[in-house]
Amino acid sequence: MSKISINKEKWFKISGYNPHEGQSQLHKSNSRFRVIVAGRRWGKTLCAAKEAETMILNPGTRGWVVSKTYDLTKKVIREIYKDLVIEKRLVPVKKQMAGPIVLEFPWGSSVEGKSAEHPESLLGEGLDWLIFDECAKCKSLVWEQFLRPTLTDREGWALFITTPNGYNWIYDLWKRGKNPDYSEWESFKSPSWENPHLSMKDIEEARLTLSESVFKQEYEADFTLSSGRVYKEFDEAIHVIAEEDLQIESSWLKFRSIDFGYENPFVCLYIATDPEDRVVIYNEYCQRHKTIGQHAKHINQDKTKYEYTTCDPSGASERAGLLENGITTLSTRSNLLQGLELVRQQLILREDGTPGLYISNRCVETIKEFNLYSYPDDSNLEDPIKDYDHCMDALRYFIVNWRRGYIKQKLGVYG
Ligand SMILES: Nc1ncnc2c1ncn2[C@@H]1O[C@H](COP(=O)(O)OP(=O)(O)OP(=O)(O)O)[C@@H](O)[C@H]1O
Ligand SMILES: [Mg+2]
Repeated sequence: MSKISINKEKWFKISGYNPHEGQSQLHKSNSRFRVIVAGRRWGKTLCAAKEAETMILNPGTRGWVVSKTYDLTKKVIREIYKDLVIEKRLVPVKKQMAGPIVLEFPWGSSVEGKSAEHPESLLGEGLDWLIFDECAKCKSLVWEQFLRPTLTDREGWALFITTPNGYNWIYDLWKRGKNPDYSEWESFKSPSWENPHLSMKDIEEARLTLSESVFKQEYEADFTLSSGRVYKEFDEAIHVIAEEDLQIESSWLKFRSIDFGYENPFVCLYIATDPEDRVVIYNEYCQRHKTIGQHAKHINQDKTKYEYTTCDPSGASERAGLLENGITTLSTRSNLLQGLELVRQQLILREDGTPGLYISNRCVETIKEFNLYSYPDDSNLEDPIKDYDHCMDALRYFIVNWRRGYIKQKLGVYG
């Protein structure tokens, strides 16, 4: 974590900022990665600007404010400019307020304002700090590919501050901050009404006029089920089962299903079906940046008998690679929408109150994807976003083949 020599509380007093309870908690945290999801008008932008100021006042520090557009970024920078330049009369040695924004001060500290829509602007040298305002509106790639590497050299910190946007990647980061395994991460969640400067009348008006789920997301800062979720039927409380409670009988049929990838993960799901045609995903293998030969070696370590291994029909060369290593795959070209529908049919509850699909809690990637696999917000397209779809695709390849066999069998023509 970068050096902080300015006393935050003193600076807040001097600059006339009196943080509310939610903002105070955030300012007090010393975690390197802070994720705050807060409602609309909570004071995210103001509080981000104040964090930035305490860093800029330290000599020789370099930081970025990033948001989806330059206009959004400017809201934070304007606040900084108002406090430091207009009110405290600190004169910048460099000032650029259009396009990529730059403010540089005589003591060698600078802040730059960047737009996630202009990835070329996101390449740069090591940072001491980074604020990503309204990051839930941006793609995870912006953080993973462009921003995270800028923090390595100087062990910089990052503050993610945003209203949530369904179960997207921010949900993942937020959960990380609640997980004791990630000691450098801390998460906060706070509704709009934590800001005492907001009119309660205005919030009540919003409560009455917005749908419940939109109000919950935008004002309560809740990760409401995104209307864009592909598998709305999926519910961790129903479909996820603790590994120790999972009893797979030796008579059940077993299958594997593969989705190919190198930059994206290569996924192999291990699936069993019970005599009542319940599908149980009992294990997963997800690895990036390995060759087909390396995956095959891993897969071949297991000597279980599988009925068959399904995979992506378009992966001809990968299939050939698996075959060279003794792994035969089968695949049927299928309609995406039909595949999604067949998975949904497995997810729904049966008359006895149990679902047709269970997932072991060891399959963390598959569970994550069930939560995050979504349709695009701004269109009525039937095709899901090609993100968080790797385990989902592997599952679909299996279900399509398995159901096809099942239907043919019922019709007496299978085999
Ligand atoms: N601690 C505070 N003291 C005084 N005013 C505050 C405080 N926190 C927030 N405000 C005021 O509340 C309003 C909303 O603040 P801000 O724009 O920072 O919120 P936001 O969460 O970024 O809003 P949006 O969701 O619109 O982006 C502003 O008028 C701001 O000045
Ligand atoms: Mg804001």
